[in-house]
Amino acid sequence: MNIQDNVKTYYGEVLKSSADLQTDACCTIDSIPNYLKPVLANVHPEVSSRYYGCGLIAPLGLDGATVLDLGSGAGQDVYALAQLVGAPGCVIGVDMTAEQLRIANEYKGWHSEKFGFANVDFIEGDIEKLGALNIPENSIDVIVSNCVINLVEDKAAVFRAAYELLKPGGEFYFSDVYADRRLSEELRHDPVAQGECLGGALYWNDFLQIARNAGFRDPRLVTDRPLTIQNDELKERLAPAKFHSATYRLFKIDGLESACEDYGQAVVYKGGVTNAETIFMLDAHHAIEKDRIFPVCGNTYRMLKESRFAPHFEFHGDWSAHYGIFPGCGVASPFTERDDAAAMSGACC
Ligand SMILES: C[S@@+](CC[C@H](N)C(=O)[O-])C[C@H]1O[C@@H](n2cnc3c(N)ncnc32)[C@H](O)[C@@H]1O
Repeated sequence: MNIQDNVKTYYGEVLKSSADLQTDACCTIDSIPNYLKPVLANVHPEVSSRYYGCGLIAPLGLDGATVLDLGSGAGQDVYALAQLVGAPGCVIGVDMTAEQLRIANEYKGWHSEKFGFANVDFIEGDIEKLGALNIPENSIDVIVSNCVINLVEDKAAVFRAAYELLKPGGEFYFSDVYADRRLSEELRHDPVAQGECLGGALYWNDFLQIARNAGFRDPRLVTDRPLTIQNDELKERLAPAKFHSATYRLFKIDGLESACEDYGQAVVYKGGVTNAETIFMLDAHHAIEKDRIFPVCGNTYRMLKESRFAPHFEFHGDWSAHYGIFPGCGVASPFTERDDAAAMSGACC
């Protein structure tokens, strides 16, 4: 059975609810921020019971945004995001499994009545062929996806198409499962490992390369957690590979560089992003306090200045001087530091 047929059977027939999963790979245990609790509580229980995501895909600053959810399943994230974008925004879900879409569509009216507006659409389609869906290029503010890319054969095609569909300054914000190594062909095609979001998991470093090749030059990790495989037989088959669930954000910004470079710039968060009154979290390594000068690399500067977050920041500095690699961003100078004592003694090797 090919991967798409296996996935359609797994999510359309085998699984009836989140409780049927054999691992915790597809269940979110991230602590849910308080502001999202009532949002999630507004989703119909039949939809929530078929939630198979592995992270929270609710970035800040969505008011009025156009959002596309790749592999939207029964629609839990779509209906949550619909409330965050509000009446002026819209959320489009794409999925290929008829049974998942049937549930999602069945409760469209119920949700629009509850929210007081209708801003959701579901499309049946293959996210490996997004170009066939007639969504205009440069038209989407934020693309999200929750535990889906691992189930896709041609992962690079999804990243390339996402890049085309995003507006400049837009972002792909998604959760997925990653392996600590490349898995064997046999494991990649094991139907249960595949269905449980493990067999098709990318080795994390291959993911980074695929994202960069698609144009997303500086992938930013937002959250991650190790996964536990509760099914002993499956665990043994997959050992010694280890798995993580992680959320990344990938900005579509032309000038991003492949490393964080230091131009002596800084930003100040002025506040005003909904649900980020005192601290703005850009990613796992950037918690930006309100009213405090925060030194940034050139890429972080652009992510804030050339995205929907720009009105909420003051920007200091320009591009006129370069001070080398930005300290603490994971890349160091390849050269040995000069040992002044040795130099003074005349040592040459
Ligand atoms: C693990 S479930 C996650 C569903 C949803 N995001 C959620 O959080 O509940 C994976 C979903 O991805 C969909 N999917 C997998 N490959 C796909 C593809 N190539 N095109 C469209 N949908 C796909 C499946 O049909 C399934 O609904």
